[in-house]
Amino acid sequence: MADLSWLRSRKNRHACWLLIFKELHLSIGTDMKTKTLNFLRCIHPLTDSEYCDSELKQRDELTLICKRCGAEYSLRGGIPRLIHSNISENPYLKEEMIGAYYEMQFAPYILTGESQDRLSYPQSEIVTRSFEKNFYQSVTHLMGKQNLTEDFYQSLLELVRQEKLVTPNTTVLDIGCGLGRMTTEMARFDDVDYAIGLDSSAFMIEEATKLANSQQSQIPIKLNLVGGKTTSAKIGLDWTVDNCDFMVGDAQQLALQEGAFDLVLCLNVIDRVPNPTKVIEQIFRVLKSGGYLIITDPYDWENSPITREYWITDMAEFFSHNSKWQQVQEVDGIPFVMRSTSRQIVAYMNHCLIYRKITEETQS
Ligand SMILES: C[S@@+](CC[C@H](N)C(=O)[O-])C[C@H]1O[C@@H](n2cnc3c(N)ncnc32)[C@H](O)[C@@H]1O
Ligand SMILES: [Zn+2]
Repeated sequence: MADLSWLRSRKNRHACWLLIFKELHLSIGTDMKTKTLNFLRCIHPLTDSEYCDSELKQRDELTLICKRCGAEYSLRGGIPRLIHSNISENPYLKEEMIGAYYEMQFAPYILTGESQDRLSYPQSEIVTRSFEKNFYQSVTHLMGKQNLTEDFYQSLLELVRQEKLVTPNTTVLDIGCGLGRMTTEMARFDDVDYAIGLDSSAFMIEEATKLANSQQSQIPIKLNLVGGKTTSAKIGLDWTVDNCDFMVGDAQQLALQEGAFDLVLCLNVIDRVPNPTKVIEQIFRVLKSGGYLIITDPYDWENSPITREYWITDMAEFFSHNSKWQQVQEVDGIPFVMRSTSRQIVAYMNHCLIYRKITEETQS
């Protein structure tokens, strides 16, 4: 007979109920957005180097099926999961990271303490082209701030506006979107038709979907203290978007239609994936001719599980070897700050670049 003695602990019983509740909740299928379905493509391998790439249809509330090869993909709570199960585990898939992610991506929307005050937030500074200037300015500024990462997102949004990367009917893909802050921000642009956020962590994507649909209600969350302890808070966006959606997927094999996006965001992801070059190739594939990529990274290779032969330590140099990409803008030294726990803050100086996909069509 199975040993159920572990259930005697109250904590274990609680965890067990939570798991059952979560599974039940997720197995209640929901139809997915038709618009998202049109972007999806089958990633079933046909040969070593080729995959099916055909359209999918919804078979039932819990299944998507390839129209050509019949491969099946799961749909949980309306969220498509188009990922091969062998994707390597990385620390970002752990649920304990979620508190740090909430603080990182949504600090201005978090309500804390008895009074449930919103954390006040100073306006972003204009980013400069000088790495040294950005470095010294930001270090001194950051020390006095509560919402540490907000400057980073505001700087990127400013670049999107400055470089006019959004034009009427723009479609956006946010790769490694985490909790989807930038996916929803992009969807808020009047000219953005649709934005899709993709992440390999199903847990992140479920939370991102909840947040984007929060419709001004407040969702209870936990923020990380130290030693695995947490504190309760609430979060609620003061905007709603209905032109964005999320999916579980692998940046190295995007289950998405070729040439479908005008703008791809790849923010703080490239040093997290086993094969960064594959991600750039996939981005090229899904971008429209003349479409834009905004890519930024802290190159934290030393703290990633990626083997040294794949490290890219200067993306500008990396892209310069490929005439299919034209550089549009380069800003070095944008601060990207994460508070991992109440006593640990990691501050990076990010390299940020914008590239345009060049094809024969754009040259003529
Ligand atoms: C540092 S976070 C960046 C989140 C967000 N882009 C931002 O800058 O606010 C890295 C994200 O990449 C995701 N990720 C890691 N490997 C991935 C992969 N192979 N495919 C898709 N997402 C991945 C992680 O789950 C995590 O959410
Ligand atoms: Zn197929």
